[in-house]
Amino acid sequence: MKRIAVLTRDCAGVNAAIRAVVRTAAGRGVGALGILKGYEGLIDGLTVPLTRRSVSGIINLGGTILKSARCERFLSADWRGRAAETVRRLGIDGLIVMGGNGSLHGAHLLHVEAGVPVVGIPATIDNDINGVDLALGADTAVNVALDALDKIRDTATSLERIFVVEVMGRDCGYIALQVALAGGCEEVLIPERDYDPDRICADIKAGNAEGKVSWIIIVAEGKARAEDVARAITDRTGFETRVAVLGHIQRGGRPTALDRIMAARLGRAAVDALLEGCTDCCVRLRNGVLDLWPLDKAVLPKTTPVESDYRLLKLLS
Ligand code: F6P
Repeated sequence: MKRIAVLTRDCAGVNAAIRAVVRTAAGRGVGALGILKGYEGLIDGLTVPLTRRSVSGIINLGGTILKSARCERFLSADWRGRAAETVRRLGIDGLIVMGGNGSLHGAHLLHVEAGVPVVGIPATIDNDINGVDLALGADTAVNVALDALDKIRDTATSLERIFVVEVMGRDCGYIALQVALAGGCEEVLIPERDYDPDRICADIKAGNAEGKVSWIIIVAEGKARAEDVARAITDRTGFETRVAVLGHIQRGGRPTALDRIMAARLGRAAVDALLEGCTDCCVRLRNGVLDLWPLDKAVLPKTTPVESDYRLLKLLS
């Protein structure tokens, strides 16, 4: 293997992983190419050479130096064929794809349809990759959201208010549940659980009768909109509410130490997997151990047991 290429989505830890991939490859005598703008760049042949020097000073940067894009064209087999042609034309012997479900699914299809050797690195703040304990970017996202939440708590406590805070997470309540537990919140609404507004309002009223006057309710964006939840509470209880939607601040920012160290380990493992002839798999963290995991399993819907953590949150709130 002479040359590998790297393609990315954006989240904290991706730049650190690019650095790890490029320097591991260099250490093994293999050259590296960056694909710009994700699958858009793979279709159009937009690339940049990556060297030991060109990835210096990026370990602490959020986002991706390779840029990213949502690529509608990649949904069609014809355009994926064009991407596979780029791979052959540029003499790319193996492709490392860092991203979430969509990116890993794309990598799987490139392998199945065109025989491109691919290894994935799970990288998504949603942490929704099946069979993967922790994806790159999720730890940073939780810490960014927690930092914001701690500030909101200052106001919630001072003014004795009810806050509804919306965090990211399309199909998976990972960020919401982690932040709610770490932030000592009273309630969390996540895609994995049904919720009953009447029960929440009854809790608020009962708490209020006992002198509990400030509440923070975390909502995963994939479950409900914070505005709607806040309105439902005000309508049912008469209490004033405030809303904060944290949005994309959670996807950016300096990666935590955990994300950087994971990036180093996953980056090296991905290169070594390609060099050993492994393909159609991703490197993953599972029960504290790094191993390889087939992409067709990784792209299945993730089911995470949440009841125990939810009950813990309610017990401590
Ligand atoms: O999948 C990661 C994620 O940040 C989700 O949490 C969010 O729903 C989505 O991406 C937002 O996508 P975009 O940046 O394209 O609006």
